[in-house]
Amino acid sequence: DEDGYDLWLRYRLVANPDDLARYRTAFTHIVVSGNHAVLRSAGAELSRGLSALLGRSVPVTNQLGKGAVVVGVGDLAAESFTIKRRADRVEITGGDERGALYGAFRFLQHLQRHRPLSGLDIADRPASPLRMLNHWDNLNGSIERGYAGKSIFAWDELPGLRERYVDYARTIASVGVNNTVVNNVNASADFLRSERLTGLAALAGVLRQWGLRLWLSANYAAPITLTADRPSPVTVADPFDPGVQKWWQDKIDEIYRLIPDFGGFLVKANSEGQPGPLDYGRTHADGANMLADRLAPYGGRLVWRSFVHGGFSDWAQYEYNVFHPLDGQFHENAVVQTKNGPIDFQVREPVNPLFGGLPRTNQLVELEITQEYTGHSTQLCYLVPEWKTILGFPTYQGPGTGPTVADIVTGTAYQQHNVGMAGVVNLGDDRNWTGYQLGAANTHGFARLAWNPRLSADEIVTEWIELTFGLDQQVGSVLKAIMLQSWETYESYTSPLGMGYLTYPLGAHFRPDPNSTHNLSHYTTSEGTGFDRTAVFPQLYADHWRDVYASPDNCPDELLLFMHWVPYTHRLKSGKTVIQHIYDSHFAGYERVLEFRRAWGRLAGRVDQARYADIAATFDAHVVEAERWRDTIVSYFYGFSRILSTGAEWLQV
Ligand code: GCU
Repeated sequence: DEDGYDLWLRYRLVANPDDLARYRTAFTHIVVSGNHAVLRSAGAELSRGLSALLGRSVPVTNQLGKGAVVVGVGDLAAESFTIKRRADRVEITGGDERGALYGAFRFLQHLQRHRPLSGLDIADRPASPLRMLNHWDNLNGSIERGYAGKSIFAWDELPGLRERYVDYARTIASVGVNNTVVNNVNASADFLRSERLTGLAALAGVLRQWGLRLWLSANYAAPITLTADRPSPVTVADPFDPGVQKWWQDKIDEIYRLIPDFGGFLVKANSEGQPGPLDYGRTHADGANMLADRLAPYGGRLVWRSFVHGGFSDWAQYEYNVFHPLDGQFHENAVVQTKNGPIDFQVREPVNPLFGGLPRTNQLVELEITQEYTGHSTQLCYLVPEWKTILGFPTYQGPGTGPTVADIVTGTAYQQHNVGMAGVVNLGDDRNWTGYQLGAANTHGFARLAWNPRLSADEIVTEWIELTFGLDQQVGSVLKAIMLQSWETYESYTSPLGMGYLTYPLGAHFRPDPNSTHNLSHYTTSEGTGFDRTAVFPQLYADHWRDVYASPDNCPDELLLFMHWVPYTHRLKSGKTVIQHIYDSHFAGYERVLEFRRAWGRLAGRVDQARYADIAATFDAHVVEAERWRDTIVSYFYGFSRILSTGAEWLQV
């Protein structure tokens, strides 16, 4: 039973008899006011959830009257909701059907957490309009950077539908996700074939009932690929070519005939071997606008990724140099999606200087929920604390400390509407969805931040723990402490002082292999280590950050080796030398993982046996990997520096 399949939608009988009695009197039936499919979903979810929580049938009926939970639409902003307790009933009101659905889920979460009925006066609204998942799923069922089995989407069975699609949609809608891109950004053109689109329309139909719009990643050379067997094929993908434009126009018309609420395309172009407009002497903006203009009449959007890079030597500034000059050229429904950092989802990176560097461009921040560089599914790394530091980063571009990343992606910085957050998701067809149970906290946490980036990591993780494991105080406090430390712990044994990229650069990005990125992400010698980026990179930021990053004395310790090359004897703000810090942090990080395992062990008997054992096995694997990292990194730097540790300071932490 407790195999993790329900994730945080875990409706179990309310254990406390007083709460149960109160809830049973207060909620006897559900009334759906309206006949929209999304409202019917809200009603069905309320019935399912309340029936399970209260241990008796709570049906959907037409009778208002005492004990009713009424869900409907009222005069509020789109996607927002209120939950109000009246004398004899509860009213869940959305600004639209989606808002009502989000209100229904929030109401159930309130009860799952046994919150007092007196607290049932809630009003909430999402901070950003676009709250998106990006699946990197391929036609053959594999998932690029997926660690939880194969794709949940059985492409070849479509239009046949699996029950799991409904659970997928419920799960992500329950935390406010409203758009989902179902295939890999390294996109097969085949997704746009007519015979695929009919199947995808069926999938879109399921998602629609839960307020979700389906998107596709598009291969920019699709007109070439998909006309190759015609008598007069399209032979270029030049956005200015009339034949290319006609092909896309016809394709987009076809898609909207089948999927009237199609979200749009996500495009990775001229990046890592993908085709794009630069192949024809056009710019990224030219390429994006050609598609955006054809999606616009249908209310569709075009998301264009800014992730482009050359070699390691100028990777950090390359993307900025390509995209900053294009600011202001993207049309209103063309949105640029930018990874949080300038490199590639390392455990620690500075914030991408394109935030604050594209004030006249609609922007999404792209975060990686799937743990490509942060432990796959064998090491716990709860990423919400990292994402909080990114979202809270003040760019200093503008008055005062300038807008933060959160201000930009919520549209408040530059009064924009087509903005928000995209997360490369970690879901697969493993029974527990995320490969290891605790990984689901990252899925939940991403969505909650996309809904409201001002929520604290503490609030978000507490919510996830209570929904997933119930209200046991000890489980809550132990697990919370572990989760909130896990990002910095992972960093401490894998990525000294912002260095990052110490895994083999071409493979699975898992095992430590600092030698393979020697002279790529770090220039390690017998004298010192790091990467001197001072010539160009700091100048891409506002003066404040330029001055901080350009000087090894001002640069925060955690980014020192990202920005600078320093001798091993350089003293950090902590007073330690760089080499001593490398030794100590790796030993301390490993010790901390041992402590995570011990702490979890003390929860035996407080969590159901199946999930307890599953998570215990994750911590066993985590210890093995942390040990491997510690020994690899420490011996690597000892090998170069030949400087002995001054003592086992890590023993005191
Ligand atoms: C990383 C990742 C690739 C992915 C790419 C991207 O480089 O390793 O698998 O395709 O990012 O975001 O496009």
